[in-house]
Amino acid sequence: MLIDGHGRTVNYLRVSVTERCNFRCQYCMPEKPFSWVPKENLLSFEELFLFIKVAMDEGVTKIRITGGEPLLREDLDTFIRMIHDYNPDVDLALTTNAYLLPKVAQKLKDAGLKRLNISLDSLKPEVAQKIAQKDVLEQVLKGIDKALEVGLGVKINMVPLKGINDGEILDIIAYCREKNIKVRFIEYMENRHAVESLKGMHGREILAKVKEGHTIRTLGREGASPSFNYLLDESYEFGLIDPHKHDFCESCNRIRLTAEGMLIPCLYFDEALSIAKAVKAGNIEEASQVLATVLKDKPKENRWMDESVDSSQEISERAFYETGG
Ligand code: 5AD
Ligand code: SF4
Repeated sequence: MLIDGHGRTVNYLRVSVTERCNFRCQYCMPEKPFSWVPKENLLSFEELFLFIKVAMDEGVTKIRITGGEPLLREDLDTFIRMIHDYNPDVDLALTTNAYLLPKVAQKLKDAGLKRLNISLDSLKPEVAQKIAQKDVLEQVLKGIDKALEVGLGVKINMVPLKGINDGEILDIIAYCREKNIKVRFIEYMENRHAVESLKGMHGREILAKVKEGHTIRTLGREGASPSFNYLLDESYEFGLIDPHKHDFCESCNRIRLTAEGMLIPCLYFDEALSIAKAVKAGNIEEASQVLATVLKDKPKENRWMDESVDSSQEISERAFYETGG
């Protein structure tokens, strides 16, 4: 079992396979970075897998593949199959913008993928286009339908932004309810790469919008999930991911690995250690050592929850598209 320096069990590893993305979401990557990570610095699937094996052997039971946009990495299904074959019981999920999903959903499912989280910020083509800075909606909706058709589990992520998509919270709920999939509203996390003028909605504002048309009952956090759950009209469960809330980090069970091999204990802070040298040398002992150090030093909590801190200035320089949010 992996336990961090604050006594939390860490059983969840998020692996970013590329920082590249085919969208330019205003809250994540509004502009193409000055330069991408050079290809030679990317770890191969074999190298990433060596670390993943160490992590699984030591207690990781849940793995999520992220990006950037992970479907931009060629032969992703091969990587998924490697992980699945090593441990078919691992909870293997992927976060995607779904643009490339229609073509590959079946292949991913066959390789052992179980679940997908898909970003859907608007059901209006022009608003979706404004947020992603590309005309994406039709293709994203096709991707969602394809994923459901091949039997992948699907959850929707929506980031409500003031003056942009804040009027669509109930519409997104209606869409997801009709398809029988869960939606999670994510509080916008201030960061240095996002469009500066963006204003996110606080969890309580999101809930107030939902209450305009429905009753809601609090269910609470399920296990170590970052999502706080609610029951709408006694029949439909939705979630709120609220990193600005004081208890958000208490049950944090995750660490992140970037495509270059940086192992990151907390999205908010700069601290990270590289596993690249260890995995390139095939040195399991050293990879395990780096993992132990990162866990020991995992911060207690982020600083979005501290309202006296200007998080857009204090937060790590590292972009969310390197760590997969
Ligand atoms: N704030 C909140 N959520 C974000 N995501 C990316 N950037 C941010 C941000 N600044 C989330 C989106 C997307 C996932 C990849 O990460 O919900 O679905
Ligand atoms: Fe790409 Fe996802 Fe970031 Fe949007 S949020 S730019 S889809 S990585």
